[in-house]
Amino acid sequence: MSGHGTYHFKNPVVRWFDTRLPVFSLMKSSVTDFPTPKNLNYFWTFGGILTFLLAVQILSGIVLAMHYTPHVDHAFESVEHIMRDVNYGWFLRYLHFNGASMFFLAVYIHMFRGLYYGSYKAPRELLWMIGVVILLIMMATAFMGYVLVWGQMSFWAATVITNLFSVIPFIGPTIVEWLWGGFAVDNPTLQRFFSLHYLLPFVLVGLVVLHIWALHVPGNGNPTGVEVKSDKDTIPFHPYYTVKDLFAIIVFLIVFMGFVFYAPNFLGHEDNYIPADPLVTPPHIVPEWYFLPFYAILRAIPNAFLGVVLMFASIFILFLLPWLDTSRVRSGTYRPMFQVFFWILVAVCIGLGYLGAQPAEGGYVVAAQILTAYYFAHFLIILPLLGIFERPRPVPTSISESVLGKGESGARAQADATAAPEHRG
Ligand code: HEM
Repeated sequence: MSGHGTYHFKNPVVRWFDTRLPVFSLMKSSVTDFPTPKNLNYFWTFGGILTFLLAVQILSGIVLAMHYTPHVDHAFESVEHIMRDVNYGWFLRYLHFNGASMFFLAVYIHMFRGLYYGSYKAPRELLWMIGVVILLIMMATAFMGYVLVWGQMSFWAATVITNLFSVIPFIGPTIVEWLWGGFAVDNPTLQRFFSLHYLLPFVLVGLVVLHIWALHVPGNGNPTGVEVKSDKDTIPFHPYYTVKDLFAIIVFLIVFMGFVFYAPNFLGHEDNYIPADPLVTPPHIVPEWYFLPFYAILRAIPNAFLGVVLMFASIFILFLLPWLDTSRVRSGTYRPMFQVFFWILVAVCIGLGYLGAQPAEGGYVVAAQILTAYYFAHFLIILPLLGIFERPRPVPTSISESVLGKGESGARAQADATAAPEHRG
């Protein structure tokens, strides 16, 4: 939609505006009237939940930044000042801090939804890849935000993570000094992290716009993995999915607010309430829960360089996923063997998360090595082979059929489906 409005609005003010700048037409065609598959389940509400959470993080962050001081001598104090002196400052800070955890919880559910239903497969590869870029930027943003508190964990997390770049051959140490803005994590580091932590969420907004744009070209996927074939398969986004998304956001908010009001520090580490001290290393340096699986992969490998490479590879491999999955059937619903491996992968990721929180010694390291090997095997060996050897169950011929059952036309469709099930998906 770059030219003229396509709708004739009754309200004269809206019509006047829309004929000059057709934002109302754009909203109508891409939100209100957008044809959406009628069989989406609650896992499809997480995109809306994520959009909501991004807005919460930006709004609470902007107000926090009005009271925060990005200087090593004042940062910790200024956070305490927010908690104690600023009106509802404790709420803003707990909202923002727990909001980060909720953001990752929602993004992981959103991604595993994609993994299960094959949402990354053609024609949605680019949509998926933009998602992976979003994940990387989210991680950088959360990491830098955590450093701003300038507690013990902030400081030591910053030291450990920036030092990872020192393993790059030849230029590593120079890169690390460049990241620090000096010869250790210090005031210049804190100030650049503050600047980037403020900037990156707006980059995320831009990426989310691209993400949704790329979604609107093929349209939403759905639990059957069968594409929309006729008007009978869809309903307008409004009011059906606006109401469903709103309901899901409210339920999610109950969980979110449960943490904010009743267990605001449950997801954090108590050491971050101790001001940063470069001369005292905490006994265990652990990242926030949402980084633990990656931390486990990093420490599983005795060789530092290889550990860093594998940690980054565990995310970058997702860019290749659309081509590693060779199955012609899109949705996991019709793939019995895939389902087993999918749940093993979920358990492996949770296991890696557990191991990331344990000391890197003895049996924990061996277990982390086994799970890391499995994680990569899932994408590089299991998925490519499954597509070749698995016999998927028959796929419904249309979304309508999967919702309404087989009517007369459905029976005919079923005959086709049994004739050549592998050609659908
Ligand atoms: C700020 C973070 C994100 C936001 C706000 C966001 C938003 C959305 C929205 C609104 C949708 C449509 C509704 C839905 O399917 O739930 C969607 C779909 C999708 N997202 Fe995201 N997303 C985010 C992160 C990610 C990430 C990290 C990935 C994967 C790595 C991803 C992959 C996908 C895919 C594949 C779809 C299409 C699903 C389908 O139609 O079957 N997204 N996203």
